[in-house]
Amino acid sequence: MIFFHPNNKQFHLSNEKISYIFKVMENGELCNLYYGKAMKDRENFDHLQSYYERPLTPNSASLSMLSLQYTRQEYPSYGTGDFRFPAFRILQEKGSLISNFVYESHQIFSGKKDILPLPSTYVEKEQEAETIEITLFDQVTQTRLLLSYTIFAYLPVITRHAVFTQVGAATISLKNAMSLCLDLPDMEWEMLHFAGTWGRERYLKKRSLEVGIQSISSMRGSSSAEHNPSFLIKRPHTTEFAGEAIGFSFVYSGSFLGQIEVSPYEETRILLGIHPENFDWQLKQGESFTTPEGILVYSDNGLNAMSQTFHQLFRTHLNRSQWRDKPRPILLNNWEATEMTFDEELILKIAAKAKEAGAELFVLDDGWFGTRNDDTQGLGDWFVNTEKLPSGIDGLSKKITDMGIAFGLWIEPEMINKNSKLYETHPDWLMVDPAREPSPSRHQFILDYSRPEVVDGIYQMLEKVISGSDISYIKWDMNRYTTETYSNHTPAEEQGKVLHRYVLGVYDLYTRLTARFPHILFESCSSGGARFDPGMLSFAPQTWCSDNSDAVDRYRIQYGTSYFYPISSIGAHVSAVPNHQTGRISPLATRANVAYYGAFGYELDLNHLTDKEFEEVKAQIAFYKKSREVFQFGTFYRLLSPFENHGSAAWISVSEDKSIAYAGYYQTLERVNHGSIRLYLAGLCPKKQYHVTSYSYDHIHYGDELMNAGLVIDRRILSRLGGDFTSLLFEIKEI
Ligand code: DGJ
Repeated sequence: MIFFHPNNKQFHLSNEKISYIFKVMENGELCNLYYGKAMKDRENFDHLQSYYERPLTPNSASLSMLSLQYTRQEYPSYGTGDFRFPAFRILQEKGSLISNFVYESHQIFSGKKDILPLPSTYVEKEQEAETIEITLFDQVTQTRLLLSYTIFAYLPVITRHAVFTQVGAATISLKNAMSLCLDLPDMEWEMLHFAGTWGRERYLKKRSLEVGIQSISSMRGSSSAEHNPSFLIKRPHTTEFAGEAIGFSFVYSGSFLGQIEVSPYEETRILLGIHPENFDWQLKQGESFTTPEGILVYSDNGLNAMSQTFHQLFRTHLNRSQWRDKPRPILLNNWEATEMTFDEELILKIAAKAKEAGAELFVLDDGWFGTRNDDTQGLGDWFVNTEKLPSGIDGLSKKITDMGIAFGLWIEPEMINKNSKLYETHPDWLMVDPAREPSPSRHQFILDYSRPEVVDGIYQMLEKVISGSDISYIKWDMNRYTTETYSNHTPAEEQGKVLHRYVLGVYDLYTRLTARFPHILFESCSSGGARFDPGMLSFAPQTWCSDNSDAVDRYRIQYGTSYFYPISSIGAHVSAVPNHQTGRISPLATRANVAYYGAFGYELDLNHLTDKEFEEVKAQIAFYKKSREVFQFGTFYRLLSPFENHGSAAWISVSEDKSIAYAGYYQTLERVNHGSIRLYLAGLCPKKQYHVTSYSYDHIHYGDELMNAGLVIDRRILSRLGGDFTSLLFEIKEI
């Protein structure tokens, strides 16, 4: 998979789908020659480098023809003639920021190494990937730089990270250290990214590239609802089913920068890594810094193919839990039913009804600990509130598991309320600059997870609760962003390390809890989906997608989420109407038809349903038990975008052997007297005959007909169902 041509010092990473070619230039630096669809290897690809003199451009000190300003580089440095944004900057003791790393050596090996304590993608067998590590050295700073590239054997995936090691006696300071840089030879691309806020996460946004810088970022200490650390570029004509696209994703849960710079020569540079703001990493002699992993996925078959690669990668090469390949339990969570106002009797009543409906897991959300009766108090006190729950979590979990339904628990371990026992005993655990009043958010403050003793203290408390009870699921929430970034127990020159160390602290707690309780299914959460990122997915195979549980808003949110994240990772629940967030009333069937495309569950008290509704819920659960593997692990295709098409959406999940598929069609507002809908399905076997059923639809079609002529939906069916916010779920079963 990795060819090395010693005469020209060229490296060619390739598999059946992609080629990535770069070389050591005459001045010892690395330049990129090609990234895209697979090409046959040859001895020399030199002709792919543009190499001629241009006016008003500085030349490389050692080579009169070469200017770094228009050279496509692998990991560009600062100060030697490339005026674009560099991949890193090193501040030296004398104040200089100039660096110049030249090739020293490389090694190629089968497989892929972990970069602990950071999460990363992995392979289970050596032959699933090949890795090249290139070592470069800067003589002046006496710093070694290792650039690691892994190419997966069967997927169009390349992963990258960098390691800086200070060899010399002088201390250096990394002001910026991106995980990847990709320089492309033209600017004929559009950027698609996923932006939003609380309740409106990962809405699809599109921009054309312009000369200059365009970026997405988080400086919030976590990946955020505002921008997701996964984005893509595509050719303007690329669709869901055809054309070139490159996806970028960052295996990290903290602040990040994803930046696209188009030079006046109309060449494109993409950088992805930890946000340089508030980052400053001192390296003393012998110390190293490893960047998190950045991922590149190439598709010449449109956006669905790109997404399917990410789904496969994240599902089978990222998450490390026992739950990775297991169908997810159908759960009922009490949050929207009770918020923090409950007692044991009410919880048992809700759990019993969930069991009666067929649910497999009951989740007790916020409000079970300390004096947590509202959101002004209790965070940090990870022991049960016996006034509300006199049998304790141990007693309650036993009563619930005795009913024949598993028990899960909510925690928010990174946070503290000042009104808590924890604050009384450890006021110094807050992340705060003691000279300033910290800004509250939801009345809560952030614990200083950059300090191992804080992480350890919380671990001890949680270990006690979890080990003493019958718990098979944990929802790990995180309900604020970081402000006043300052660690009171860290020397001044290390304050620039605090945000990254915080993220490492979170990963440390996840590592310890998942190792101690390997049977537990973790679901990450952050005020809904504000930390839906590959770093979290490495530990928790699913993430609560959004606090907005309204079905119509949800198919937009889930549609955007599906560009990168597997359907099995998308926590999706049916909730009560009028919806708590939007006040909208949508049919119970639509709420389920949306939530099926995820880790399915309920977010309401089933005791409040009418008998007819309860029977419908029972039927939904029975149906999902039979079909969930197709929804969660099938091949997923987006068919119609809710960001176009008058807000209507459609998608399909197809089983691996193409013998069964489920397609969902969702209508926002009724459109009177319009033509019938033609839904062009995808992923089926053209020659197979399928029996297609849905509400008042029962026909037999060949796969090619369903994909080429489309499934014809009579709009009057939707009117009969109620018009606005109605949906149809089609079962497509091989005969
Ligand atoms: C935010 C989460 O997204 C909700 O599901 C719920 O767990 C609340 N926090 C509890 O405080």
